[in-house]
Amino acid sequence: MSFRSVFLAVVIAFVLILGAFLLNRARPRVETDQPSSEMVRATGKCAECHARTQYSVVHEYEMSAHARKSVNCLDCHQPAKGQEKEDHHGFVISKKLTAGNCRSCHENIYQQFLRSRHAAPAWGAIYGETGLTPEQVDFSETYQPGGTRRPPHPFVQLEGGSAMASGCEQCHSVGKPNTDGTIGTCTVCHTRHTSSVRIARLPGTCAQCHMGPDHSQIEIYEESKHGVMFQAQEHLMNLDAEPGKLTTRDMFVPTCATCHMSGLNGLGVTHDPSERLSYYLANAVTGKRPNFASNQVKMKQICAQCHTRLVIDNVYSQGEKVIEATNERVRGAQAIMDGLRKQGVLTGPPFSNPIDFVYFDLWHYDGRTSKHGAFMGGADFVQWHGNYPMLQKTVELKAMADELRRRNGKSR
Ligand code: HEC
Ligand code: HEC
Ligand code: HEC
Ligand code: HEC
Ligand code: HEC
Ligand code: HEC
Ligand code: HEC
Ligand code: HEC
Repeated sequence: MSFRSVFLAVVIAFVLILGAFLLNRARPRVETDQPSSEMVRATGKCAECHARTQYSVVHEYEMSAHARKSVNCLDCHQPAKGQEKEDHHGFVISKKLTAGNCRSCHENIYQQFLRSRHAAPAWGAIYGETGLTPEQVDFSETYQPGGTRRPPHPFVQLEGGSAMASGCEQCHSVGKPNTDGTIGTCTVCHTRHTSSVRIARLPGTCAQCHMGPDHSQIEIYEESKHGVMFQAQEHLMNLDAEPGKLTTRDMFVPTCATCHMSGLNGLGVTHDPSERLSYYLANAVTGKRPNFASNQVKMKQICAQCHTRLVIDNVYSQGEKVIEATNERVRGAQAIMDGLRKQGVLTGPPFSNPIDFVYFDLWHYDGRTSKHGAFMGGADFVQWHGNYPMLQKTVELKAMADELRRRNGKSR
């Protein structure tokens, strides 16, 4: 090789390296710092800007199944039918994202979700039909009778707007009617950018809403054998298992999602948790659901992936006895309240007399808790947060009733 050609080769190499260096400098810093293949796929123009300012958003997206399947930022952020458009740095994006931005690719799941109590009935529990179209109410009523065709909850008036907006709505807006004509949101369980099944399968995800004295599901779960085992063995499980292919080898201890939604060992995934429920446990007096028998079979099929018949039937027969006993206690309390009204001793709107609260807490806290505890393995909740305070309030209620009658010159 001549000196000339060696010199030329060195010059060309130098120019190439310099060029690469300059080009690299022009790229966003995060991209050069963390040039993962995910990053490159995520970088439309969107990520170029947003990785600089909201790194977390882009990073969460990078980890998602969507990124792996080349679903890009605009696939979700473009305006769906009925949504307000907004010009955004050379793109058109939607002002507000809803379940409508997911249904374009997950229509069947959206339809299943619509039939559930997480959709219109969750909203109806606070505001009744307000904000829902007659078609939406009719649709939901065919699957969830009484869920939306009802008056707004008395607390809307009594507690006022800010209590509703920052309180009730934070949980119940899982079924909020959106201005684009869709209902609800998918991101309460999946998050916005990870769109994760792992997160949806964690008990803490459901516990954002399913907690407290009126629906102590997370507290009950945590003290149940299932909760204890999950805590101990979570690190041994494969919570990322592909939906539809989840087996008891991936998850050998159940979480909320396993019993209420997951498709375990080939049983179908559902976005309508009602499908596996046979009783209306949240009601003051619990009755059977319309598809009582087939729903119960479906839940028992889930249990049967891990248990023998005897264990399962035992839980149900004990649970059913707790329902009967609780119904009897609540009916007794109801009879006292009805009697007072008939005698004209208790007058005025709901929640205007101290006795109203004793009665409400009796069924809404203690009665419910005892029933939930019985079906989900929470002995402490059946007893000390359930039956014991129910007994205490029954005594209190009777004493208050006697006092009201005495003051009004009536006898029992
Ligand atoms: C040229 C830079 C740039 C590009 C390209 C860009 N954005 Fe933005 N984006 C911004 C800035 C700046 C904001 C305002 C941030 C703030 O308010 O703190 C923003 C805000 C947003 C918001 C918040 C809602 C809003 O309207 O303020 C969303 C959602 C969003 N961008 C999504 C996207 C998507 C999706 C893309 C690609 C289709 C994209 N952006 C492209 C810079 C950009
Ligand atoms: C699976 C759908 C989906 C994908 C894909 C997606 N987003 Fe989002 N993003 C959402 C949803 C839902 C929200 C919440 C918007 C709302 O409430 O109106 C959101 C919110 C945002 C926000 C505002 C976040 C905040 O907390 O202020 C930004 C910025 C954003 N996205 C940027 C991006 C960028 C950049 C990408 C691609 C790297 C992307 N998104 C991909 C669904 C998605
Ligand atoms: C452009 C189409 C598209 C849109 C829009 C979209 N997805 Fe997806 N989604 C997909 C594809 C494709 C997959 C991967 C399916 C597969 O692997 O079989 C997926 C998978 C998922 C998964 C399963 C993830 C896993 O780990 O297996 C969830 C959960 C999900 N999407 C939720 C959402 C949510 C919530 C929204 C709206 C905020 C949304 N998707 C919007 C196309 C989309
Ligand atoms: C922490 C989250 C959270 C808050 C705050 C909350 N709820 Fe609920 N609510 C739930 C959950 C979860 C259930 C489901 C209980 C069950 O099925 O056991 C529920 C059930 C109900 C029910 C019974 C189900 C039905 O459709 O009839 C009514 C009524 C109700 N809530 C009304 C309200 C009202 C009114 C407020 C505010 C005064 C409120 N909730 C505040 C989470 C919440
Ligand atoms: C109450 C929580 C919750 C809500 C709300 C929710 N999901 Fe899911 N979703 C789950 C759970 C849990 C799984 C995992 C099921 C399993 O373990 O097999 C799942 C699985 C999925 C999957 C993968 C399952 C499959 O069959 O491919 C997709 C896609 C998905 N959800 C999309 C959505 C969309 C779209 C919405 C809104 C219409 C939504 N989800 C609302 C909890 C939820
Ligand atoms: C954003 C709040 C929220 C989250 C998160 C949430 N739920 Fe709910 N859930 C509700 C509300 C509100 C209701 C009551 C709806 C009604 O009947 O009024 C409810 C009702 C239910 C019911 C009773 C349905 C029926 O037919 O009576 C089940 C079961 C349930 N949720 C399971 C789950 C599971 C499992 C998860 C987690 C994967 C979850 N939920 C996550 C708010 C939530
Ligand atoms: C081992 C399975 C299992 C696990 C785990 C489990 N549940 Fe349940 N759950 C049940 C059974 C069984 C019932 C009662 C079924 C019936 O009505 O026939 C029930 C009832 C409920 C109800 C009552 C609905 C109504 O009628 O008021 C809600 C809400 C609920 N579960 C939510 C949850 C949440 C949230 C978690 C996790 C913190 C959870 N469950 C964990 C099996 C389970
Ligand atoms: C994914 C597997 C799985 C599912 C599904 C499941 N369980 Fe379990 N369950 C377990 C495991 C593991 C234990 C702990 C057993 C041990 O102590 O070794 C357990 C413990 C129990 C116990 C306590 C047993 C005792 O004597 O301490 C009862 C009761 C129970 N389960 C009932 C149910 C019912 C009812 C269902 C359905 C509604 C159900 N389980 C669903 C895995 C499961």
